[in-house]
Parts: sequence; C-alpha cells; structure tokens
Amino acid sequence: MFDGHIALYRSLPKRVKIIEVGPRDGLQSEAGNVPTTTKVDLVNRLARAGFANVESASFVSPKWVPQMADGLAVMRGIERIPGTIYSALTPNMRGYENAREANVDEIVIFSSASEAFAQRNVNGSIAESIERFVPVAKAAKDAGLRLRGGISCCFGCPYQGEVPLSAVQDVVARLADLGCDEIDLADTIGVGTAGQVAFVVENVARQFPLDRLAGHFHDTYGQGLSNILAAMQIGMHIFHSSVAGLGGCPYAKGATGNVATEDILYLMAGLGIETGIDLDAVVQAGDFISQALGKNNAARAGRALLARAH
Ligand code: HMG
Ligand code: MG
Repeated sequence: MFDGHIALYRSLPKRVKIIEVGPRDGLQSEAGNVPTTTKVDLVNRLARAGFANVESASFVSPKWVPQMADGLAVMRGIERIPGTIYSALTPNMRGYENAREANVDEIVIFSSASEAFAQRNVNGSIAESIERFVPVAKAAKDAGLRLRGGISCCFGCPYQGEVPLSAVQDVVARLADLGCDEIDLADTIGVGTAGQVAFVVENVARQFPLDRLAGHFHDTYGQGLSNILAAMQIGMHIFHSSVAGLGGCPYAKGATGNVATEDILYLMAGLGIETGIDLDAVVQAGDFISQALGKNNAARAGRALLARAH
C-alpha cells in the first residue's frame, strides 16, 4: 500500500518488540480481588498470542500493593511457553528472592525520575531505591537472568509537575551502571506529547543504546499511540502495552492504563511493522479479561474488532 517514498515510513523500524504488561501494570490497580486463576488464564492467553515478554507478577510488599500478593501462585500456575520471557517487578532483595522462587526469567527494578513520586511509590528517595537495587542487580546478573530497569515519571510527575531531562538522564546512568539489559522510559501519568517524547528519547539515546531503550506510555491524555509513533521515528523499537488498556498506577491518582495492546498492534499492522503477535488472539484475551473484571474494554481497536466479529 505504501511504497516507501513517504519519509515517515522510511524512518520507521521494520520490527518492534512489544512487552505485554497488563497482568502486572494492569491488574495491580484493580479495586476488586482478581482470582489467581483469572491471572493465570490471562498470562497464558497472552503468551500463546506470541509475546516475547509478558510482565506477569510483582514481588513487592503486599501491604503496599495487595493486588499482587499472589505472584508466586500465578507463576507456579502458568504454562511456561519455551522462549517466552516471564518478567516480574522486584523492589528489593526480599522481592528478588521471591521472584527466584517463582522462577522468573527477567528481574525488573524500578525507580523514578521524580523524587516526589519515588517517596510515594517505594517509600524512599531515588538514591535509596537504587541502593536497594545494587544487590538485586548483582544477584540477577550472577544468576544469568535478564535485568530490566523502569523509570517512572520521565515525562511529568503527578506530585512535582515537570521533570527535567537531566533527572531522567541521571537515573538512566545509574540503572546502566547496575547492568540493566533494557531501560524503560515511563510516562506514568500519560501527560507527555510527541515532541517531548522525541526530545527525551533522542537525548537519552546519546547515553544508552536506543536498541535497549523501551517506551512505557500510559494513555491518560490519549497520547499513547502518537508518542509511540514519535519514538519510532527516533528509532525506538521496544514498547510496553496493556491488553484491553488495563490499569493505572496505585500511586498516581487519575492515571489510566497503558496504551492498549490491541491499539498498538492495529497501528503496527497498518504500518507493515512486524510484531510476531496475533492481534485476534489479543482481542480475545482483552474480551476475556474485560468480562472477568466486569469492565468496559478500553482498547478502541479491540472493541471495534469484537463488534465486527459479531
Ligand atoms: P517499606 O514499607 O518502606 O519497607 O516498603 P520495609 O522494608 O519497611 O517493609 C515493610 C513491610 O513489607 C515489611 O513487613 C516487609 O517484610 C514487607 P512487616 O515486617 O511490616 O510485616 N516487604 C515485603 N514483602 C514482600 N515482598 C517484598 C517486600 N518488601 C518489604 N518485596 C517497598 C518499601 C519498596 C518494599 C514498598 O514501598 C513497595 O513494595 N513498593 C512497591 C510499590 C509498587 O509496587 N508500585 C507499583 C509498581 S511501579 C509502577 O507501576 C510503575 C511502572 O509501571 C512504570 C510507570 O508506569 O511509571 C513500573
Ligand atoms: Mg506503568
């Protein structure tokens, strides 16, 4: 359909990696109790749909995020598809040990570019959170596990407002020093816009390989897809998304879920960019979890494709 003469298409990657974060980032914000069996079913459906990486659990304090307290049971209950990376959040050594018991493939440490957000999310300063990660990172590397570092509030903070690029770059440098294989730039409250995203991604890519930088965009202000397109034009090709647009953040009031996986996949299909993921299977998974939670499906493409099928 597009013959490559349009500058936009020439500048885009041929293939992107999409990390499905719905079972973690999505379900961590659910007000009601989500049965472990529903979580297991969701992770299985997503892994079967072809994701190379499904963020499946969090080994954080159950006092802070009770929704994720059954991480071990989820990890033990799922079918492990060979080649799929099952990742989980670990805020400290206690979380790391639990993640090891659960046989997690990728350890995710997470900090923030905003001091105010770090205090609310991990009950400590950015520096303190990094201190807790030093032994986690070493243990993960010694065990031969993949290590990913997430940075919240790279494009704005619910408590302090603007976040300077230098603050983002500072945390990127610290996570890079810890040996992170991948670093996620997160727009926790979905306030970023395309120009800002391009600016931040381009500058961070001067200090950490773009090949290993990911975009984690929440869709609160409806900017998720345009932010992804802007980041792809700079060369980014790893993105996070949430099936049915599930989620929010327990420590960012009003923030909605990540950009919906169905919407991203529809965009990529239209652009002829490979993902290796079966959109129809994701649409079904989105329908399954929306019904299980008794909520409206927040994926626009998901809803449209379901309506067309009926
Ligand atoms: P704390 O209260 O300062 O730490 O929490 P503590 O060491 O004093 O521990 C308090 C209690 O929790 C103790 O229990 C610990 O044993 C227990 P008690 O002695 O009172 O009975 N505890 C744990 N239990 C199980 N697993 C653990 C663990 N750690 C301590 N790992 C801490 C500090 C960092 C632990 C806490 O603040 C915490 O767990 N925070 C996590 C918050 C969270 O999960 N937020 C959501 C995920 S981040 C996110 O969504 C952003 C992201 O999507 C990117 C974006 O969009 O921005 C990634
Ligand atoms: Mg998030």
